[in-house]
Amino acid sequence: MTALLEVRNLNKHFGGLHAVKNVSFTVERGEIVGVLGPNGAGKTTLYNLLTGFIAPDPGASIVFDGHNLLGLAPHRIAGLGISRTFQLCRPFIGMSVLENVVVGALGSRRDQHGADLEARAQALLAQVGLGGKEGVPVEVLSYGDQRRLEIARALAARPKLLLLDEPFAGLGGGEIADLSALIRKVHADEGLTVVLIEHKLREFMRLVGRVIALDFGEVIAQGSPEDIVRHPAVIEAYIGRDATGTEALHAA
Ligand SMILES: Nc1ncnc2c1ncn2[C@@H]1O[C@H](COP(=O)(O)OP(=O)(O)O)[C@@H](O)[C@H]1O
Ligand SMILES: [Mg+2]
Repeated sequence: MTALLEVRNLNKHFGGLHAVKNVSFTVERGEIVGVLGPNGAGKTTLYNLLTGFIAPDPGASIVFDGHNLLGLAPHRIAGLGISRTFQLCRPFIGMSVLENVVVGALGSRRDQHGADLEARAQALLAQVGLGGKEGVPVEVLSYGDQRRLEIARALAARPKLLLLDEPFAGLGGGEIADLSALIRKVHADEGLTVVLIEHKLREFMRLVGRVIALDFGEVIAQGSPEDIVRHPAVIEAYIGRDATGTEALHAA
């Protein structure tokens, strides 16, 4: 069977900045893949390219589930089965928790009906640990709960591929463990393929089967989490550069 997602020769310039550089990779059905990279490595830009928020430079190929995604609008790509969460949560203010999830489902699929949608939204909220908070206005949710809501909303569209952008950002240790368990659960229960951006190595080790490491827009390594933490280019990107910075600081 062919890969669920196949990306070839992806490039993106912002003026003189080459933010995504000759990126090629595949994601197989059922995988949990981690995208690792320091701040500014091009991780969010990669998601923006995959989801049609921005267009790549000419010469790229993005094929998802047999469909060529190039030139498709974000809602078309969502309709083909790619859902994403954002690095900064973007709940619909002025709506309840339940309404937020229902709207997430309506956004991309026209084949679902009111009552079904609401039942699924309720089931998803229970699954992510927000059961009982359906009627609460989103504004009053804690940061951790907003992250859970984002995932419920993304799942409401019944995606084949879920793209998570730094889902652990701003969360404490306990919340990170809970959210990891949730990601593992939806992966197992729904056979969902997941790509997860993070810049903390530790979270990757437990959760993902394979890591794609980016630095300055380029893929510098791909492999198992165990291989990635030992990879010279990854060590250089994370530790070498920091060590140099620290030395420079001490010398100053
Ligand atoms: N819309 C944009 N216009 C100009 N520069 C951008 C834009 N989006 C991202 N960048 C730049 O591209 C680089 C990669 O950004 P980003 O993909 O957000 O990195 P990451 O998510 O890995 O931290 C950064 O230098 C960032 O400032
Ligand atoms: Mg980012």
